[in-house]
Amino acid sequence: MGMKTRNYWKNDVFDIYGGEIEGIIELTSLAGRYSEMWNKWGRIWDFMLSLIGYDDAYREIAVEKLALEKGDSVLDLACGSGLNFKFLEEKVGGQGKIIALDYSRIMLEKAREKIKANNWLNITPVEADASSFLLEEEVDAVLCSWAMVSIPDYESATKCAVNGLREGGGFSVLDFQLITGVRGWLFNPVYEFIFWSTHQDITRQPWKIMQKYLANVCKQDINTKMVSCNIAWGTKPTIGVLTNKEHASNLCVLEDVQTRRE
Ligand SMILES: C[S@@+](CC[C@H](N)C(=O)[O-])C[C@H]1O[C@@H](n2cnc3c(N)ncnc32)[C@H](O)[C@@H]1O
Repeated sequence: MGMKTRNYWKNDVFDIYGGEIEGIIELTSLAGRYSEMWNKWGRIWDFMLSLIGYDDAYREIAVEKLALEKGDSVLDLACGSGLNFKFLEEKVGGQGKIIALDYSRIMLEKAREKIKANNWLNITPVEADASSFLLEEEVDAVLCSWAMVSIPDYESATKCAVNGLREGGGFSVLDFQLITGVRGWLFNPVYEFIFWSTHQDITRQPWKIMQKYLANVCKQDINTKMVSCNIAWGTKPTIGVLTNKEHASNLCVLEDVQTRRE
């Protein structure tokens, strides 16, 4: 399975609905700097996430939402060091295909190590800008974990990924979010600072962007004592872009995962 990527440092962004996207050109001069930052994080990313502990459980839920079948193809958008691979492999099997896209060389190096160690011959790592790429063949599903808050132009990334998704295909996003309630008063400024200082934005609400390009968007919160995350998922509509009215009603909010488990 191949893909075309535009010259992403110039950010010649592909618009899935045919028009030009305005106001994002200046972001691209920063892209090199950001990917350098992720190169540094890439060296310790797996170790950092192993300290968090709950990470795998949430990845698994995000993958579940894609309703993958054996032989399916998946785009792992901003795949990082490949921590989703084992869950995706389990679902799509050896006949399936996984495209692992990221713009950090070191993250991809770590991803390649996992591919080699597990002999996953059906994973293709691609070094590209998530907000400017074009898949040559449609995929059955798109997964994006912990990265919508990190990709500078996450709306373009969503559009590019939806463009490469087959009609009816699933799109699942796992990410951090601000904490609600009293604890939010205490912790949110700290989180906002940490994310801001690493060129990320925890105030983003990726499900709102998903509502623009996907149908049947659902969101489920995951609240622990210290952090709040969410999984949002939807499917590519079979007919064009949703109307504004449809956007407004296109979100079902499910009960908190944590609450449901208790
Ligand atoms: C917080 S890490 C998450 C990595 C991985 N998805 C995971 O779940 O472990 C964010 C990732 O997004 C990637 N990223 C951020 N902006 C990107 C862009 N414009 N194009 C491609 N990758 C990007 C970074 O290189 C990094 O690997």
